[in-house]
Amino acid sequence: MGILSKRIVVLPGDGIGPEVCSEAVRVLRAVSSRFGHEFTFDYQLMGACAIDATGSPLPDATLDACRRADAVLLGAVGDPKYDNDPTAKVRPEQGLLGLRKELGLYANIRPITAYDQLLEHSPLKAERIRGTDILIFRELTGGIYFGEKGRSEDRTSAYDHCTYSREEILRIAHRAFKAAETRRHQLTLVDKANVLETSRLWRETVQSIAPEYPSVALDYLFVDNAAMQIILNPRQFDVILTENMFGDIISDEASVIAGSLGLLPSASVGNGAALFEPIHGSYPQAKGKGIANPMATILSAAMLLDHFHLQEEADCVRDAVQHALDQGVVTPELNPTTLYSTEQVGNFIAYSVLDIADCEVHRNNIKLGMSTII
Ligand code: IPM
Ligand code: MN
Repeated sequence: MGILSKRIVVLPGDGIGPEVCSEAVRVLRAVSSRFGHEFTFDYQLMGACAIDATGSPLPDATLDACRRADAVLLGAVGDPKYDNDPTAKVRPEQGLLGLRKELGLYANIRPITAYDQLLEHSPLKAERIRGTDILIFRELTGGIYFGEKGRSEDRTSAYDHCTYSREEILRIAHRAFKAAETRRHQLTLVDKANVLETSRLWRETVQSIAPEYPSVALDYLFVDNAAMQIILNPRQFDVILTENMFGDIISDEASVIAGSLGLLPSASVGNGAALFEPIHGSYPQAKGKGIANPMATILSAAMLLDHFHLQEEADCVRDAVQHALDQGVVTPELNPTTLYSTEQVGNFIAYSVLDIADCEVHRNNIKLGMSTII
C-alpha cells in the first residue's frame, strides 16, 4: 500500500471523550510518521459540549465536516445533567443518533475478545472465556431507536414504534454473512421471533439469503437465551447479527468477557462514511482525572486503519496494545496499583508503534517521569 492522504474528523465529545481521543490521535500520528501517510485531523463539536456552545448537539458545521471526511473518530457523548432530566428538549445522544442516521451508518461492528493477559480480570471464570472471539453486527439506523415516538394527549401513556424493512435487514445481513465467511463460518441471528413481528421478518429475510453463503452455518437464538448463553459459554459464538436495541444491550453484556468496557472498540459503517468509537460512554466521574482507559479508542483507530485497507498499520496498532497489556502498562481499572495514566498508556502505545524494540527503554522513562514527546 502506497502513501495515503486522509482527512479524519475528530469528535472528542464529552466526559472522558477528549482524553481518550487525544491518545488515539497520538497513536494515529505515530502510524502516519512510521508509515509515511498524511493524516489531517479536523476537530468538531458534538454532544453536550456542542449544546453548550451552539444550542445543538449536532451543529451543521460538524455534520458538513463529517460528510466530507474520509473517516470520523468519536470519543463519547453524554452528560449527567441530561440523564436525570427526562423533560430536556435537546440531549447529547441526539447528536450521535442524528449523525448515525445522516451518514447512513447502518452497521455497527463490535468485536469482543478475551485477552489472555486479562482473563483473571473478568468476573467470569477464566476457563469459560479463554479464546472468546465474537464479532457482533448491530443494526444501527432502524428499529425502536428511530421509530415514531410520542405521548398520548394527556401524556400518561407513551409509545416507541419498532419498524424494519426487508432492505434494512438485507444490507447488514450480507455484511454479517461475508464476515462469517472470513472467520469461523458461523452466524447467529439474535431476535425475539416468538413474540415480535419485526423479528419474524428478520428471520425470514436472513433465511432467504443463507443459500448464497453455503459455507456459513446459520442458527438462531431468542435474545433472552442469547443473553444467558453469552455468559455461560461465549466460545460458542462466531458472528452475531442482531437489531439495534438487542445489539446495544448484548454488546455491553459481552464486554464483561473482555474484562473492561475500556477495551472495546467499534466501527459504524454504511455506504460511504464510517465512524469509529469506543463502546463505552462518557464516564463523567472520571473526567479530567487521567484514569480513563484509552485502549478502546486506540483499538477503534485500528479499525479505522482497517477501513482504509491499511492492514499492516492496523495490526501494528493492535500489536502495540497487546504489548502494553503484556508489559502491564494499563490504567487503574485493570490494575489498581498501576502508575500509568491515560496519557502514559497512550504514549507507550504510540511509542511502540514507532519502534516496538525501544519500548522497554520508554517504559523505564515513564517510571522516571520522563514521558516521551510525540
Ligand atoms: C452505544 C450507546 C448509544 C446507543 C447511546 C449513547 C445513544 O449506548 O453506542 O451503544 O444506545 O446506541
Ligand atoms: Mn450502548
